[in-house]
Amino acid sequence: MAGFAKSFILILTVSAGFLAVLWRDTFDSELLSGAHVLLTGASQGIGEQMAYHYAKFGAELVITARNETRLKQVKEKCLELGAKKVYLVPADMAIPKNAEMVMQFTLDKLGSLDYLVLNHIGYDPFQMWTGDAELTSWLMQVNFLSYVQLTAAALPTLIKSNGSIIVVSSLCGKVAIPYAASYSASKFALNGFFSSLRHELAMQGRDVSVTLCILGLIDTQSSQEKIKARNMPPMIFYPAPETALAIIKGGATRAQEIYYPWWVAIIVGVQDWFPAMRDKMIHSYFQ
Ligand SMILES: NC(=O)c1ccc[n+]([C@@H]2O[C@H](COP(=O)([O-])OP(=O)(O)OC[C@H]3O[C@@H](n4cnc5c(N)ncnc54)[C@H](OP(=O)(O)O)[C@@H]3O)[C@@H](O)[C@H]2O)c1
Ligand SMILES: *[C@@H]1O[C@H](CO)[C@@H](O)[C@H](O)[C@H]1NC(C)=O
Ligand SMILES: *[C@@H]1O[C@H](CO)[C@@H](O)[C@H](O)[C@H]1NC(C)=O
Repeated sequence: MAGFAKSFILILTVSAGFLAVLWRDTFDSELLSGAHVLLTGASQGIGEQMAYHYAKFGAELVITARNETRLKQVKEKCLELGAKKVYLVPADMAIPKNAEMVMQFTLDKLGSLDYLVLNHIGYDPFQMWTGDAELTSWLMQVNFLSYVQLTAAALPTLIKSNGSIIVVSSLCGKVAIPYAASYSASKFALNGFFSSLRHELAMQGRDVSVTLCILGLIDTQSSQEKIKARNMPPMIFYPAPETALAIIKGGATRAQEIYYPWWVAIIVGVQDWFPAMRDKMIHSYFQ
């Protein structure tokens, strides 16, 4: 037992050192001055906070989501923060052809694209799957297929600009938990699709980076409301502005994956070591 504990601590120490080297901050905000960015899910939550960071760094932005009123408010604040240009385009990503429309709007306004930031999600309650396959299908369109449709429309211009795709995902896209069957499916799908695409781009000599962002619990209003609706043990929510900055840095440094908070990486790394124990812990935690 002592031997096991010792080797476990050794592995943790070595991986912490390795990660520290891997995650040294090479971010230069100058890179983002004048960069052309299309940002989805920008009307609230983490997307809204990303809009403000990009604005401060002097990027030229197209922001999208469904709620035009809120997009206008975000645009105003971006301009106050120093954004050079901000355009908004209301669009519902449940409708497949809107991806092409949003991308065409972006090219009309900005002329080219450096960052495609895919962040929006459709609303789905944190509860057991009710057998509603329609809802799962709708969520797959909003959370996954629209990301693919936007990528299809953006790739030609991203290839020309040696641009970047940033995909906002979740711990639920790497580790399965209850009450999130459809959400989890859409996030696992993103992992599979975009990790495969990253290989293909590299094999074709295309310098388009793909950054997958694995997030823990973040203190957005929607996330807090969903968790509150369940009787859960107290949880730590991490702040959306810091999360937004970590995502932007990951994209700008062309990282393959980022984990926020950092310890999320450890859960992903060790989850399959003791599956029976893991499942017992999950079941008692999510009682
Ligand atoms: N918050 C967390 O705890 C957490 C944890 C892990 C991962 N994440 C990931 O982080 C990202 C952002 O999460 P968040 O908590 O910031 O979400 P949020 O606050 O609920 O914001 C979601 C955004 O998506 C937009 N949206 C919703 N339905 C849409 C539709 N049908 N078409 C187009 N846009 C739509 C919303 O605007 P409109 O309503 O105006 O359309 C809003 O701007 C997501 O990818 C999420 O999976 C979050
Ligand atoms: C859009 O956002 C505004 C401001 O938060 C809110 O008052 C309004 O109800 C929202 N509209 C829709 C259709 O959700
Ligand atoms: C993209 O990268 C290639 C090779 O690395 C380079 O030749 C080309 O000039 C770059 N294009 C732009 C727009 O930066």
